[in-house]
Amino acid sequence: MCGIVGAVAQRNVVPILLEGLRRLEYRGYDSAGLVVVHEGGLERVRSVGRVQGLAEAAAGHGVHGHTGIAHTRWATHGAPTEANAHPHISGELAVVHNGIIENHEALRHRLMDLGYRFTSETDTEVIAHLIHFHLRSEADLLRATQKAVAELAGAYAIGVALASAPNRLVCARQGSPLLVGLGIEENFIASDVSALLPVTQRVIYLEEGDVAELGLLAVRVYDREGRPAAREVHLSELSAEMAELGAYRHFMQKEIHEQPRAVADTLAGVLGAQSIAPEVFGFEAAEVFARTEQVLLLACGTSYHAACTAAHWLEAHAGLPARAEVASEYRYRASVPRPDTLVVTISQSGETADTLAALKQAQALGLADTLGICNVAESALIRASRLRFLTRAGPEIGVASTKAFTTQLAALFVLTLALAKARGRLNPEEEARHIQALRALPQQIADALKLEPAIAAWAERFADKHHALFLGRGVHYPIALEGALKLKEISYIHAEAYPAGELKHGPLALVDKDMPVVAIAPNDALLEKLKSNLEEVRARGGELYVFMDHEAHIAEQDNLHMMRVTPHAGVLSPVVHVVPLQILAYHAALVRGTDVDKPRNLAKSVTVE
Ligand code: F6R
Repeated sequence: MCGIVGAVAQRNVVPILLEGLRRLEYRGYDSAGLVVVHEGGLERVRSVGRVQGLAEAAAGHGVHGHTGIAHTRWATHGAPTEANAHPHISGELAVVHNGIIENHEALRHRLMDLGYRFTSETDTEVIAHLIHFHLRSEADLLRATQKAVAELAGAYAIGVALASAPNRLVCARQGSPLLVGLGIEENFIASDVSALLPVTQRVIYLEEGDVAELGLLAVRVYDREGRPAAREVHLSELSAEMAELGAYRHFMQKEIHEQPRAVADTLAGVLGAQSIAPEVFGFEAAEVFARTEQVLLLACGTSYHAACTAAHWLEAHAGLPARAEVASEYRYRASVPRPDTLVVTISQSGETADTLAALKQAQALGLADTLGICNVAESALIRASRLRFLTRAGPEIGVASTKAFTTQLAALFVLTLALAKARGRLNPEEEARHIQALRALPQQIADALKLEPAIAAWAERFADKHHALFLGRGVHYPIALEGALKLKEISYIHAEAYPAGELKHGPLALVDKDMPVVAIAPNDALLEKLKSNLEEVRARGGELYVFMDHEAHIAEQDNLHMMRVTPHAGVLSPVVHVVPLQILAYHAALVRGTDVDKPRNLAKSVTVE
C-alpha cells in the first residue's frame, strides 16, 4: 500500500527520497510523486507507473532541494492518475498520506464553502487544505497540523512540507504506520525502516496519535494531547543488504530459498533448551495458557491459511477447541466471546488494517488474552498484544508471502506444543520427539527446494491454462488453499482449492482436460480417501499433478504426474508440502511473464480496509 519517505538534510534529498521509494516498491503502488522545498517554493513531480519513471521525470526537471517528501500511491479514492498522485499541494504546503480519511466528504464540502478548489479525487487533498486553513490562524506548521489531524476520522500517516520552512518537516500518524529515522544533522520519515536503511538504522516508531516535528538537529514528538512525548530510539536489526536481490531473479524466489534459514532462525530461541518454555511467548504466557480453554485465530490471506493449519494442530494435539476466522469478517460480525479464549492474531507485517481491527474488536469484547505472531518487531500488532512471538523470516519484499508463512507455521506448532503441555497432554517423550522433528524441519525444506527444476518443468504445462484446482484433505486442505492463492495472485491463473472430499458435491463439474488438478498427498490417515478422489478426477479426463511423500504409494497411470517431496514429515508435513506449491506458482508466473514481485492490483502491507 502507499509508501511515504521524507527527509530534511544539508544535501540534496532527491536521491534519498527516490531510493527510499524504490525500497518501498514492494508494498505495491500504481503512481508516485515527490516535492522538494527549493528557494522558497515547492517543486513537485508526479508520474503514473514505476518509481523509475518518477526518477526520470525528476532528473528531466532538475529537481533539487534539501527538504522533501515523497510517496508511492496505491489507489483507493480516485484512479491512478497523475492528478491523484501525491504530494497534494495547498498554497505553499504539500502533503503525502497513507490511509483512508473516513470523513473526507464532509470536510471537502466545508473546505469548498471556504473557497478551496480541489484538483484531485483523493481524500488526501482534504488534509492539505485543512492544514492550510489552520495555518491561516496558527501561523505555525506544527500547531496547524495538530489542529487538522484532530478533525480527521479514519487512518492516516502523513508528511507535511512548507515552502517557507526549509529544513523542517511535520508528520503524524493514526492507524497507519510511520517512523522517524535519525541521522547526523539530518532526519527522515518513512512508512517502514527498509526505506531508510541506506541512511540510518536508528529509528523512532511513532505511536497512535503522535505528531512529530523534524529539523536538521532535532526531532520533537508530541502525543495526541499535544504534550511532548519521549519515544524510545531503536536500532534496527535490518541492514540495507538484507533487502537486496543478490543472485536471484526475483525477491519471491530468494525468499522461497531463504526458508530453511528463516525457519531455523525462528526456532533458534525455542529449541535451545530441551523442552518448550511458554515464556517464548512472553512472561505472562504460562499464566495465560493455564486458563486458556479455546483458541480463536484471526488473520488475512496467507496468514489466515497459517491460522487454519494451526486450528487443526490445536484440536488434534492440544485438545483445545480452535477456530480460524478471516479478520475482515470477525471485526464486523456479532460473535459470542468466551473469557477463557486465547486470541491469536497472525500477520507478516503487523500493520494489516483488518487484522488490527479484529484484535481491537476482540479486546473490546473483553478478550484480554491476546497473542500476536508477527514478523515485524515494532509493528502495531506486536505492540497491541499481551503475548508476542516474533517470526524471524527477515524482510519479505515479494508481495506473495512465502517465508513468512512457513515461519508462522513453525511458530504456531510451537504454540500447539506449549498449550498441549500446559494441559498435560504432552509427555516428555512426545515433547522430545516433536522437538527433534522441528530441528529436522529446515533440512526437509531444503530438500524440497531441490525439486525446483522438476517443478519448473511442470509449470510449463500450466502456462496456457485458465483455471486450476487444488485438493488436500485435513491439515493439508489449508495448504491447498495457500497453493491456489499463490498461483492466482502471481500468475493470474484462476485457482480454487477444495477439501478433496467436496469434489463430487460440485467442483467435479469443472474437471476436464484443460483443468489441471494439483493434489497434496502425504502418506497420512487420509491417503486412501484422497486416492479415491483422484480417481474421480482421472475418470473425467482431468490431468493430475500430485505432490506426495516418499512413503505414499499411488499407482502410476495416464494423466497422473507424481513428485515425491520429502520423507514423511509427520505432523509438520504441511510446512514442507507448501514449498513445492510456492515454486510451482513462481515458475508458472515466470512462464506467463507476469510481474512476479509486484503482481497487478496487489499491495504488500494492506494498511487500509
Ligand atoms: C498473499 C499475501 C497476503 C497476505 C495478507 C495478510 O501472498 O501475502 O494474502 O498474507 O495480506 O498480510 P499480513 O500477513 O502482513 O497481515
